[in-house]
Amino acid sequence: MIEAMNLSKYFNTTLSLEGVSLSIAQGEKVAILGPNGAGKTTLMRLMLGLYAPTSGHLRIHGFDPFKERSQSVAHISFVPQLSPPIRLSVEALCAYAHQTAKTDIERVATITQRMGMDLAPVRHKAFYTLSGGMRQKLMIALAFARHSPIILLDEPSSNIDPAARRVLIELLEALDGSQTVLMISHRLEELSGIIRRAVTMDLGRIVDDRAL
Ligand SMILES: Nc1ncnc2c1ncn2[C@@H]1O[C@H](COP(=O)(O)OP(=O)(O)OP(=O)(O)O)[C@@H](O)[C@H]1O
Ligand SMILES: [Mg+2]
Repeated sequence: MIEAMNLSKYFNTTLSLEGVSLSIAQGEKVAILGPNGAGKTTLMRLMLGLYAPTSGHLRIHGFDPFKERSQSVAHISFVPQLSPPIRLSVEALCAYAHQTAKTDIERVATITQRMGMDLAPVRHKAFYTLSGGMRQKLMIALAFARHSPIILLDEPSSNIDPAARRVLIELLEALDGSQTVLMISHRLEELSGIIRRAVTMDLGRIVDDRAL
């Protein structure tokens, strides 16, 4: 369950979110749409507890994601819009994910393989030195190689090739009914059959919320 109540976020005087109220039940599959700068990523980063809201409340399974970050993020897998410049090697990153989130490393390799990326030749490379698409594939694989009640995806297919995009769709289709998906996307048509609700944002506000 994700619950935002009158959530606002300003960066100094820049409005990013204003009065956002949103309730997402466990198992819902939701797309977040809207133009560049609408506040989509900010909403997701608030859910990850990366910022404190300026005002309003946010709860993830009852936890405040900023004040009770460890309890809250334990429920979440996340694929970022831009991969962070992680200096760990691919192998060390996978080991870290296994240690901290019980991520299944064999499944990480299987998923990247399905997306056309062999992990073996890059396993000693620092994550940040991989290409943008390779980083995104690995982030997708890490997110789907554990069973998370909530999966947040911020334009996960922006850098990957069409074949890998189809694999991502298959991964989403294979999720069970109990898993909540929140996916920021500019390609709603690709998600038909998976996404059941579309929330549209503009200028920091929710301007449309409809069942599909
Ligand atoms: N860390 C930050 N510091 C200052 N301003 C920020 C920060 N993050 C976001 N903003 C501002 O908040 C607004 C919303 O940004 P956000 O990244 O949430 O948009 P978005 O809907 O994800 O856009 P896009 O489709 O381009 O990814 C923008 O005006 C942006 O400049
Ligand atoms: Mg964004």
